[in-house]
Amino acid sequence: MRKKVIAGNWKMNMLPNEAIEMITKLAEYVKDTNNEVVLCVPYIDLFYCLMTAQGTNIKIGAQNMHYEEKGAYTGEISAKMLKSIGVEYVIIGHSERREYFAETDEIVNKKVKSAFANDLKPIVCVGETLEQREAGNTFDIITAQTEKALYGLSLDEVQNTIIAYEPIWAIGTGKTATSEDANEACKKIREKISKIYGQNVANGVIIQYGGSMNPENAKELLQMPDIDGGLVGGASLKAETFEKIVNYNK
Ligand code: 13P
Repeated sequence: MRKKVIAGNWKMNMLPNEAIEMITKLAEYVKDTNNEVVLCVPYIDLFYCLMTAQGTNIKIGAQNMHYEEKGAYTGEISAKMLKSIGVEYVIIGHSERREYFAETDEIVNKKVKSAFANDLKPIVCVGETLEQREAGNTFDIITAQTEKALYGLSLDEVQNTIIAYEPIWAIGTGKTATSEDANEACKKIREKISKIYGQNVANGVIIQYGGSMNPENAKELLQMPDIDGGLVGGASLKAETFEKIVNYNK
């Protein structure tokens, strides 16, 4: 049985005082869950969140990282730096980074390798645009993104990669993929991993859905057999809404 991983992506929201308040509340709400709870927060909040989450079952992640360990990369943060303060997860290749910051599949692959080299768990985002979906290219796009992100990893690393299927047209729009469509996409990703790395590895990979997940639609999505969790944007900003998604099976 794969564990469900419910991760929040705060994006560029939440000042440190808001972050501390949210995590303090959330910790109480989610203390009895059997799901993995992760919050991926802005760099500026990381240390506060790690301190506040100590002794709780909330894990802290970053939203990006540079693939080099150190050097003349003004404004960047490396996987080694994240690890040094106790960060456990990192989102890599979110569609907003691919679109606004020109992140390519090659950069995503380098970042995934660097995350593993520094013992961070990568959450790799893949997803199609509306035009790609309407042209019938969804499965080709997302399986190619997955293959390129995982290129050159060991079997063990592949198995420990979290893939987040996030259709771009569903992000922040209030439009959600139907649970059947979302499950089908996650299944295709798993089949691709199985073809390259074998069924055993593919069976262990956590594949999340992301895109307008909220307390109303979470249960239906998270009950699907190939959806192993969620990557939640807007609904992760408030403890009261995020906890309902985390506790969907209560
Ligand atoms: P929303 O849940 O706000 O649609 O964002 C999804 C997302 O991009 C999470 O990474």
